[in-house]
This record gives sequence, C-alpha cells and structure tokens, in this order.
Amino acid sequence: MKILVIGGGGREHALVWKLGTSARVEKIWCAPGNGGIAGEAECVGVDAGDVGGLVGLAEKIQPDLTVVGPELPLVNGLVDAFAERKWAVVGPDKKAAQLEGSKIFAKEFLQRHNIPTAEMYGAHDSAGAAYGALCAVDWPVVIKADGLCAGKGVFLAPNPDAATDFIERVMEKNELGDGGKRVMLEEALEGEELSFILLTDGGRYAALAPTRDHKRAFDNNEGPNTGGMGAYSSDELLPAELRQTIERTIVEPTMKGLAADGIRYQGFLYVGLMLTKSGPKVLEFNCRLGDPETQAILARVNFDLAEVLSDAAAGNLQPEKLKWKPGASACVVLASGGYPGKFETGKEIQGLAEAEKIEDVKVLHAGTKRVGEKIVTTGGRVLGVTATGSTLSVALQTAYEGVGKIHFDGMHYRKDIGKLQQSSAAGD
Ligand SMILES: Nc1ncnc2c1ncn2[C@@H]1O[C@H](COP(=O)(O)OP(=O)(O)O)[C@@H](O)[C@H]1O
Ligand SMILES: [Mg+2]
Repeated sequence: MKILVIGGGGREHALVWKLGTSARVEKIWCAPGNGGIAGEAECVGVDAGDVGGLVGLAEKIQPDLTVVGPELPLVNGLVDAFAERKWAVVGPDKKAAQLEGSKIFAKEFLQRHNIPTAEMYGAHDSAGAAYGALCAVDWPVVIKADGLCAGKGVFLAPNPDAATDFIERVMEKNELGDGGKRVMLEEALEGEELSFILLTDGGRYAALAPTRDHKRAFDNNEGPNTGGMGAYSSDELLPAELRQTIERTIVEPTMKGLAADGIRYQGFLYVGLMLTKSGPKVLEFNCRLGDPETQAILARVNFDLAEVLSDAAAGNLQPEKLKWKPGASACVVLASGGYPGKFETGKEIQGLAEAEKIEDVKVLHAGTKRVGEKIVTTGGRVLGVTATGSTLSVALQTAYEGVGKIHFDGMHYRKDIGKLQQSSAAGD
C-alpha cells in the first residue's frame, strides 16, 4: 500500500508512525509534514488546506489510501474531490464536515434528533441581533462563533458587558475572520469534560481508546488556553457504565440521525462531552482526530492501522479489529517560550536521539523542520514526548524521563499531565 497523510503536526506524525509499522505499507507521503515526519515519510510541500494542490499531488503519486489529519481540507471539500475520482480516503465529505465547520448546523442537528446538548438561546447573523438577544439569557452565557476559529471562537461570558465586548470583536471588528460572521448563544453547562472519539465507515463504528487532553498553558490548569499541552489515555477514564450511557444516549442517536438526514459520515468523529449532573451532553463535534489526543491514543494501537483505515474508507469497518495495548499512555507537549502568545522560532533542538533511546518513548514532532543535520523549531507546539506503560504513572514517568533529555531555548511544558483528574468548565 502507498499512503498519503495530509497535515503537518504531532497528530500526523503519530499517524505516519503507526501506519509505517504495518507490513502492508510500502511507502508514505505526507503533505506538508515536518522535521520529524521527514525521517519516516516523504514530505511534499503542499499546504493541508489546498484542495487543488492535493488533488494534483495524488494524481502524481496515486496513493492507495489518503488519511486526512486536520479539519480545514475536510471542510474545504477534499473528500468530495477525491471521492469523485474514486480515490480511497479517510474523512467525512464537505456536507458531513459541517458538524465541525458550523456550530449552528451541529446544534440544529442535535436538537432535531433529541441528542442531549446545551440549550441554544438563538443564532444571529448581525451584531445588533446578538446584542438584543442578551436580555433574554441566563448568566453566564456561552457565545460561540459559528465557523472554524482555531479554538478562539468560544467565550463563557460572565455578564452583559463581557458578552457585548466579545460579540463586538467577533462580529463588528471581524477579529476571527469569516468564522465569526454568525454567532450562537447557548446555556453554560457545568461538569467534567471528556472526549469520545470514534472511527466509522458510515454504518458501523468503533470507539478509540479513551483520552483526555490538557488545554491550559500552565500547571494546575492556569494560564491561557492552548491547542493542547498534553494528553493521556487509560481505560479508567471511561468506566463501562459511562461508556454505555454515552453510546446509548449520544453516539447511537448521532449515527441514526446522520443516516436519517441522508449524511454519510465516514472517518473519525470526535464528540466533545460535558458530564453534567443530568448526564453527558454534547459540547461540540470535531470531524477529525484531536491533537495531542491522537498521540496518546495511537501509542496504544495494537492492530494494523493501515488495514483498519482502508477497511473504513471502503465502507467495510470491522470494529473488532481495533485492539488496544493494555495499560496507559501519555504525551507531554514541549512548547516554544511565550506560546500560546508570541514566540520565536529557529531554535535548535538537542537530545532527541537520547530521548528516543529510552524504551517505550516516541518523540512526535509538531513544529519542527530539518536544517542540514539539525532539527529546529518552527511552531508554538514543538514536540510531543509520548510513552506507554503498564499503568498511567509508569507511562507518565517514562514520558517525563524523555522530556528530561530534550532541550531548546525557551522550552516550556506542563509538569502535571495526567495528574489532575478534575477538569474545569473553562477547558482542560
Ligand atoms: N455550553 C457550554 N458550557 C460550558 N462550557 C462550554 C460550553 N461550550 C463550550 N464550553 C467550553 O469551551 C470549550 C471550547 O468549546 P468548543 O465547543 O469545544 O469549541 P472549540 O473547541 O471549537 O473552541 C470547551 O472545551 C468547554 O470547555
Ligand atoms: Mg473543543
């Protein structure tokens, strides 16, 4: 099999790593890839959001399977373009990807099929209407920009002044671009957050190993929100009873609802949940794997990922094939100084080989590139040091041992990944 992976972050490095262990995989390309992926696949300089460029690339290399990492190509219709040409691809088409691409579309879907979610007060396409709607909501209120906003489109507003300010920035000053053209207001939920990620071929689905990420920049869930500073996976995260409740009240009605609406959803579906006092409720859908959750999940893969993904693309997913290593895994993100604010790039990274010598450690690259023999930083999130272990504490200890070998100027990371079991409504 020849495989094309689209994207260039830690999630895609994890995909390339596990696809590369399959005996049936002959060659992997990655567009655009990064400094770590370049050691395991052929990187091609095509942007992940460039559907035309990716079609051209696939025409040339003729992959047997394409796996899409990020949401942008999905929302831009990459899968539609590939399906038209009968090319096998893992990921939902443009219509199905609206579950992530439009929060209002997702909310209307949830309401139509009676799937538990926060109550929506209203959806608005002008700032004036949104301001007006504030007089009829309970406080705090959650304001969500409708479109893709790279994690910056949701605000838990404590009072009308803060809400007005956010609406003004999003709808009048267009600070988030087109993603902020419409907003919706919804009820604020309280509870612990959990992600439930599954792979589906449009009919059957298989849940992936349970995982939790850490969104805040600093220890004890302090500091600003980030793309994710670490993640871990352990079966204890999802007791059997909770899993059954989620499948019965959320996942199954979602699969049925998609079918009833004539939407064939194929690929990964990430269900973001709030575990409230009155049961699990959907916060959002993502139409792809999470980053860094994927690094922790795929570290536990005990099956042929290439085989399972090509089954899914062909509409023939066999859920029983997905077997997970017992125990746990952890991924600790090493970030550039200043991230998620301003940061410098071009810093040389030391100690990668020493870290990888440790048994059960894999260093997954996110924001790196190769310059001659050196690896230098190119992004905010630079590396995800990932480890497996017989228990969560063993996995964490091993991952942090790997972290201890690595250094670059300004490097910072959280020291409490996997330690805080409790998460806050502000996002952890
Ligand atoms: N209704 C809600 N009540 C409380 N917190 C919420 C609500 N909706 C979202 N959040 C918080 O905001 C975070 C981001 O919202 P989400 O819908 O996941 O959007 P995105 O990931 O696209 O920014 C969530 O992880 C959660 O912490
Ligand atoms: Mg989210």
